[in-house]
Amino acid sequence: MNATAVIIIAIAAAVVLGALAFLTLARRSDVRGAGALSAETVRRDAAARSETTVDVGASSGAEVEAEAVEARRSVGVGLAPVSDDTGLAPWTPPDEEAMGVSRRQFFNRATIGLMAAGIGTFSAASFVAFLWPTKTGGFGGKVPVGRLDDIRAGIRTGNGFFYAPEARAWITEYPADAIPKAEEAYSASLMPGINQGFIASYQKCPHLGCRVPECVSSQWFECGCHGSQYNRVGEKKGGPAPRGMDHFPLEFSSAGEVTVDTGTIVQGSAIGTNTTGQEAEGPHCVGASDH
Ligand code: FES
Repeated sequence: MNATAVIIIAIAAAVVLGALAFLTLARRSDVRGAGALSAETVRRDAAARSETTVDVGASSGAEVEAEAVEARRSVGVGLAPVSDDTGLAPWTPPDEEAMGVSRRQFFNRATIGLMAAGIGTFSAASFVAFLWPTKTGGFGGKVPVGRLDDIRAGIRTGNGFFYAPEARAWITEYPADAIPKAEEAYSASLMPGINQGFIASYQKCPHLGCRVPECVSSQWFECGCHGSQYNRVGEKKGGPAPRGMDHFPLEFSSAGEVTVDTGTIVQGSAIGTNTTGQEAEGPHCVGASDH
């Protein structure tokens, strides 16, 4: 699973979790212990209300105030004592249990709110990362490896092999007379390089991942770990590897600069592929084994 798929799955999961958190916040909880009063508490509250119910026939607050003003007028200066019998309901302290429920609600909602904020932040970061331009210049992106002429000279100097460490790849010449067979055997993404006479092979052995070195004497690649062998263009010749060496597409600028697209790994050719017909040109560096 590549990084893009992981990011898409993460965003989808974040959206689902965010929706759940939103619905949980929006929904009025009527679950006992998470905001609801017990039946006993409800009964007690009802009984207390019936004891403190104000007589519907009693005076309203405005009427009581008017009576007080009238009483003050009747004594002349407005210092008349105000009656304690206001008819207002007495203050009762808040119910401890109800306050406890409110605290639970507060912590529940604070927890869910923080979780939703975290998920939202993660989603936003993933989205930005998803939109960020593909990196260039390092392995996993497009790696410039020099000018075409320099690579050709490097292959001569390297006795047939040019190693590009930043791209973790070998670049070798692809024979022009093998191009028709290559068109049938290889991905179209490799053809720009092959048509220019080059192929880039990933250094990682498709058997168990060791770095595959060149063997100058045989002019093959020969893996020292378990003896897999590949010809100069990475087609499997022996050993336990399940296929040929993997490849990277090559790109060429109009100015002659060569770039290896290490973000695109093209799986090696199937066992039996032999487009160049190149046999070992000298002694092998390692003995092939079939374990
Ligand atoms: S890792 Fe190369 S042959 Fe096993």
